[in-house]
Amino acid sequence: NTHDLADYRPYPFVLSATRMHFDLQPQATRVRAALSLAPRDPDRAEDLVLDGGKAVELLSLAVDGEALDPAHVLREGETLTIAAAALPPHPFLLETEVRIDPSANTAFEGLYISNGMFCTQCEAEGFRHITFYPDRPDVMATFHVTIDSDLPVLLSNGNPVGQSQGRAEWHDPWPKPSYLFALVAGDLVAVSDSFTTRSGRRVALNVWVRPGDGDRAGFAMESLIKSMKWDEDVYGREYDLDVFNIVAVDDFNMGAMENKGLNIFNSKLVLASPETATDTDYERIEAVIAHEYFHNWTGNRITCRDWFQLCLKEGLTVFRDQQFTSDMRSAAVKRIEDVQALRSRQFREDQGPLAHPPRPDRYEEINNFYTATVYEKGAEVIGMLKRLVGDDGYRRALDLYFDRHDGDAATIEDWLTVFEDATGRDLSQFKRWYTDAGTPRLTMAEDWQPGEAGGTLTLAFTQDTPPTPGQPEKLPRVIPIAVGLIGPNGDEVAPTQVLEMTEASQRFVFQGLGSRPVVSALRGFSAPVMLSRRQDDATRAFLLAHDTDPFARWEAGRDLALAALIGAAQGQAVGSDYVEAIGRLIADDGADPAFRALCLNLPGEEEIATRLSAEGITPDPDAIHVARESLARQIAEAHLDLLSRIYDDMAVAGPYRPDAADAARRSLRNAALALLTRIDGGERAEILFGIAGNMTERLAALTALLRRGKGQAELAALHDQFAGNRLVMDKWFAIQAMAAPPAQAAAIARALSQRKDFEWKNPNRFRALLGGLSGNHAGFHAADGSGYDFTADWLLRMDPVNPQIAARMSTAFETWTRYDGGRRAKALAALEQIAAAEGLSKNTREMVSRMIAAG
Ligand code: ARG
Ligand code: ZN
Repeated sequence: NTHDLADYRPYPFVLSATRMHFDLQPQATRVRAALSLAPRDPDRAEDLVLDGGKAVELLSLAVDGEALDPAHVLREGETLTIAAAALPPHPFLLETEVRIDPSANTAFEGLYISNGMFCTQCEAEGFRHITFYPDRPDVMATFHVTIDSDLPVLLSNGNPVGQSQGRAEWHDPWPKPSYLFALVAGDLVAVSDSFTTRSGRRVALNVWVRPGDGDRAGFAMESLIKSMKWDEDVYGREYDLDVFNIVAVDDFNMGAMENKGLNIFNSKLVLASPETATDTDYERIEAVIAHEYFHNWTGNRITCRDWFQLCLKEGLTVFRDQQFTSDMRSAAVKRIEDVQALRSRQFREDQGPLAHPPRPDRYEEINNFYTATVYEKGAEVIGMLKRLVGDDGYRRALDLYFDRHDGDAATIEDWLTVFEDATGRDLSQFKRWYTDAGTPRLTMAEDWQPGEAGGTLTLAFTQDTPPTPGQPEKLPRVIPIAVGLIGPNGDEVAPTQVLEMTEASQRFVFQGLGSRPVVSALRGFSAPVMLSRRQDDATRAFLLAHDTDPFARWEAGRDLALAALIGAAQGQAVGSDYVEAIGRLIADDGADPAFRALCLNLPGEEEIATRLSAEGITPDPDAIHVARESLARQIAEAHLDLLSRIYDDMAVAGPYRPDAADAARRSLRNAALALLTRIDGGERAEILFGIAGNMTERLAALTALLRRGKGQAELAALHDQFAGNRLVMDKWFAIQAMAAPPAQAAAIARALSQRKDFEWKNPNRFRALLGGLSGNHAGFHAADGSGYDFTADWLLRMDPVNPQIAARMSTAFETWTRYDGGRRAKALAALEQIAAAEGLSKNTREMVSRMIAAG
């Protein structure tokens, strides 16, 4: 059952208003819905097709108050069809009553119960598990919702219009698609505040959590207020209701959800205290609170015509949350972090059997397309657009977008047209970024000709995108290449300019240069491509010391490290260039500690494998692991005193604060600690674990110890202290699988999975353990297949319970084709074992068959 972009047709009925009534009972919730419908074309009678899950029990069905003749109603699969003959040629009211069982909903899609509280997740197609409805994003209606329940807090979208004992009523005046519907009912407490918009609307803000968690919700509230202000200041976007509610739930398939006026969050993205959350957790909370809030305009006021357009809202909203974080923290550090994440998740996806364009043109299960390509590459594409049209052009285009499309369910074509109209640019070639999969390979060659009137530098670029599933042939794309030139004495002789590449190969000439400069290319990572250029280690070290663009500077260090690691993984001796250059860089006390930390952290094993396989070399996970370990040890030995000084200097005095400045110091200190632990027998890490009051340092210390085969006492201590805290226990599970010595990793994961407190039906706990193992590159890819087998066993167990989670975790296998024959055979056997399971969900089936097809 595949869906094709080309098959789009508007819904034949217009739905203007939806009224719902919920009688909430854990095992038998009754839902009444009244839909104000009208035929789109009164002269053309059409059947009315509603979506509705198999577990939705239909109790009654009436049109304009009259029960329907059963002969006119057909229930088949996940749809309910009412024959055109039973419908009037004018507006009518369709009323249904259904019964559902939230307590049996382990898939956490639709209405379910988490820890005694009712909550919903409707994106993408969860609403059909609540009632019969045109469950598609281009059908938008106002909602009026009444909830009957004994639970004290009853929430839905929009503004509260009535609260009495056992009942709450909500009205959402902004027409919305069903995927933005939400309902929450539970015993909850709120951290409350307010925000006054610049036009004077006073908005009541609440972050709802379970009793006892209130003291960990303050940071989320601060982040919300910052986000509201930022969206006014930077995009001119104001909030449009009287209340904004956020609710934290423990069982949640994804990170969070932007339901209109009622955002629902995975509790790990709301709850934070210094003792339980790391600096990274705080940064993510701030970013995701912002992301969901920003969706109010980019997603809710302007939504998507169909799910093929998902990146219209997700790419743009990720781009906006990245801008927000750059403004709140360090722009340079944020850019480097984002590129690292893009490479490790999206380039990996693009390189394998699951590659797809930011706007796919077919799918079986849309939940399988909430991917790094749709989100993160979708954001990169917008970054390129902005670079090409300039900041002013971007601003004008966005103003026009909000103006023209407010209230619409829009498409990528609409989005590009807005940019064309606002800037006069033809974007037909640029559009390939949305429709074509794969990461372009960009090569750069330099030619220098000295001359009397100064020398001439020619940069020759070629681009080429390898084939991806279903797209064997690729045409050239528009690639903005930001370039600067550095003179031999280290001064910048040409500031950043953006070269616009549109051909398969193209030259750019720089004239009148006094002497041969060093080229700093792809500054700011101006396009999501893999750049290769012939560059020696001395040039890289020069750029690492002198580049004025922080990303390019970091990248030079990265290239040095990767060259050393790739050589070492293939059995070559490591030169000292990298070790010396990194020493000079981290010794620079004038540089941002966060930047120094980013340079000091070696590329991960997965990243090394990705780079090798892009170069056509079969990665050997064990050799990569050994190479990385030995380079780390070399750095630690060469810079022992320096690292030890940094470790002491970077200690943060005073109470813990999650801000960027303190977090930066801790990140450098922890990077130093990881290296020092290789030499000092774990002494510093053990002391730090014992005295640190914050989770950032304790977890860093524990990780360093576990990687050295130590840390058992610390693990036990952490367990004793936090056995009752789910979020900390998730870390406890994850870290053991992730930091385990590769040869033992699968066995350790298996033993952990047999514990009583491995509450595997909780998505966070399941992801902690399975994601921990797949994050242990050499452990997951152990030559004996133990990592594959463990993962396959658990995917099979999870699939009937929660198909979305099983399908998502199956991406652990997405790189299987890049390894050697022995590993490939074992991975394929695991995938085939999954594929053979009876009753496999369509989610997991789609993923597994795409992966097998690549074999
Ligand atoms: N729209 C949400 C966000 O990115 C994600 C929801 C995804 N849900 C899903 N079932 N795939 O903010
Ligand atoms: Zn989103």
